[in-house]
Amino acid sequence: MDDGPLASLWYRSMATATYRSFDPLLPDDDAEDVLRLCERFGSYGLYSEEGLNEGIGEGLPQRFDSAFNYVRTGGRFGRAHEDLNALIARTNYFRETYAYGQDIKAPGIEPFLNFDGFVDAAREIFDRPIVEPAIVFANMLLPGQELALHTDVAEFRGISRKHHPQWLCVVMHHSGLFDRWRMPIATAVSWYQEARGGAFAFYPDGADAPAVALSVRFNTAVILDTDSVFHGVDRVNSPTDDAPPFKPGMRVHSLGEGTGKWVVRDGDEVIGSYTWDEMRFSISWKGYCFKDEAEREAWRTGSDDISLDLVLDTLESDLRKRGRVNGARPPKKEFAEVLVDEYIKFPSPVAE
Ligand SMILES: [Fe+2]
Repeated sequence: MDDGPLASLWYRSMATATYRSFDPLLPDDDAEDVLRLCERFGSYGLYSEEGLNEGIGEGLPQRFDSAFNYVRTGGRFGRAHEDLNALIARTNYFRETYAYGQDIKAPGIEPFLNFDGFVDAAREIFDRPIVEPAIVFANMLLPGQELALHTDVAEFRGISRKHHPQWLCVVMHHSGLFDRWRMPIATAVSWYQEARGGAFAFYPDGADAPAVALSVRFNTAVILDTDSVFHGVDRVNSPTDDAPPFKPGMRVHSLGEGTGKWVVRDGDEVIGSYTWDEMRFSISWKGYCFKDEAEREAWRTGSDDISLDLVLDTLESDLRKRGRVNGARPPKKEFAEVLVDEYIKFPSPVAE
């Protein structure tokens, strides 16, 4: 426990991951203002995968690790199998960026971007003194939507989602072979209304230990290493079991600040109407955590980058040691599938 103005709780789990929860996160009036800011921002697009991989992993979706696990297992609770369109409608949520570095896209978000509570907690989670806020983005899930279990896309000096496949960044981190180049990132997730369903489920003690599920409550938050800790969002309650009618390209629009009313439109056509108490809204914050100025400088200038060739050669030789590859390196798609299968060990489904 700290004795600062904000009530916050530290949890040190059995494994290495540490998380901290905030309850309350902000003075209540400020938390109410965040909801107004969200409405003022206007509309949110359906986030979908940025196309298929090229090169290694050719033809597979960017996060085929998480998507294939969801299809194979039915998610955290092992629900009945659904087709790919249902998967897309359930797990592609609405999202917009509020701040990218100090580039502010949602005026008013500045105090949140530079919030000392997150910066201090990030410092302690990784035991790294320099924390640079990187991004703030808003996530909206509507009835029937959920977020498949995954770990976030890790980043390394020389390898990141900007230029390389997302699943490969994830494999690299799970393999533990590239820690020298890894850029630790702390992620906070915060909530400003009460949702029915839609708990944030995460595995602070590893994929083999039980999950912790935080229900979405006004003015609360959690911060952790989401690149290492599996997490997802349970399904937001819906009057029907059917997959929601959302397709890439649709947007959810506020009907005006203070109204609490929203509609999803496909062009001009209204697909559905919602109020805050049917929705699940969160804001995520990410910050880079550097051990010293020299490391931050190496990251900025690219003076200590690892190359893609070295990454693939290292992984291939490790797979040989593990008996997963014999003879020549497999073709690109098969190689990607073996890498994900060998290194990314998802939590098993549990009974609901
Ligand atoms: Fe995530």
